[in-house]
Amino acid sequence: MNGKPHSALEGVAHRPGTSKPDPILVVEETRRSFGGLRAVDVEHLEVQRGAITALIGPNGAGKTTLFNVLTGFERADAGSWAFDGTPLQGRRAHQIARAGMVRTFQLTKALARLTVLDNMLLASPAQRGERFTGALAQSWRLQEERNRRQAQELLERFGLTALSGQFAGTLSGGQRKLLEMARSLMAGPRLLMLDEPMAGVNPALRGSLLEHIHGIKQEGATVVFIEHDMDVVMGISDWVVVMAEGRLIAEGPPAAVGADPLVIDAYLGRRRGGGTT
Ligand SMILES: Nc1ncnc2c1ncn2[C@@H]1O[C@H](COP(=O)(O)OP(=O)(O)OP(=O)(O)O)[C@@H](O)[C@H]1O
Ligand SMILES: [Mg+2]
Repeated sequence: MNGKPHSALEGVAHRPGTSKPDPILVVEETRRSFGGLRAVDVEHLEVQRGAITALIGPNGAGKTTLFNVLTGFERADAGSWAFDGTPLQGRRAHQIARAGMVRTFQLTKALARLTVLDNMLLASPAQRGERFTGALAQSWRLQEERNRRQAQELLERFGLTALSGQFAGTLSGGQRKLLEMARSLMAGPRLLMLDEPMAGVNPALRGSLLEHIHGIKQEGATVVFIEHDMDVVMGISDWVVVMAEGRLIAEGPPAAVGADPLVIDAYLGRRRGGGTT
């Protein structure tokens, strides 16, 4: 955990599906179609432990669907993936989260009619009833205290303490993104998957979100994030994976990927073609 995945990734080949020195997530032959549309068709993907990986690609490339499949929110038609050596295909979303692989949503899922603090508490893994069957009331109370303390610490860290008693529905878009990120940390994830954490966030809060993503990496977690803003991608990622039409089309360090004609064409091609294929 030395915060130097850059050097770890130095010798890695710049091609889609390339192997990494220390992958925390390995995806194999994973596919998902909707009707005749292949939304995800990933032959091989490895995510380097301790790095920040950006997943980019034009609208409809399959980025969110890939997240959904890997985190158990959508079933795969085929494929397998292992998180730290543990196969996770076929597992349900809460099992995957409990294993340490936690995602956030492109459209935030904060519950508008609950307070900010309650949204946090709802995300603690031990908050689930099934874990308490047969447990002593005493240990349950201790756990609840721990959860509350952790929620308050995270709210403090994300600058949300003053809002903790407010309904989440009253927060601005940017504040909701902060809440979503804070909430995703309640479960102590080792791999955090963020779906467009900056979307709709004003410039003032963007800087703060970026710092938080960096902070998560400094603490030793691995981050994969989906992002459209290339300045953000260039500024924060150690590695970039590019998807188009369900497939991986490029991988590499940000500068190399940004200059890749294939990548430029995938974006511009989509814009020129007006989304028709
Ligand atoms: N539940 C669904 N039913 C039918 N089609 C779907 C469903 N979910 C996604 N799709 C289609 O799958 C393709 C990939 O969608 P996805 O949301 O994964 O793209 P994305 O890369 O996340 O795009 P964006 O950058 O716009 O968020 C799109 O063509 C989309 O319309
Ligand atoms: Mg998406």
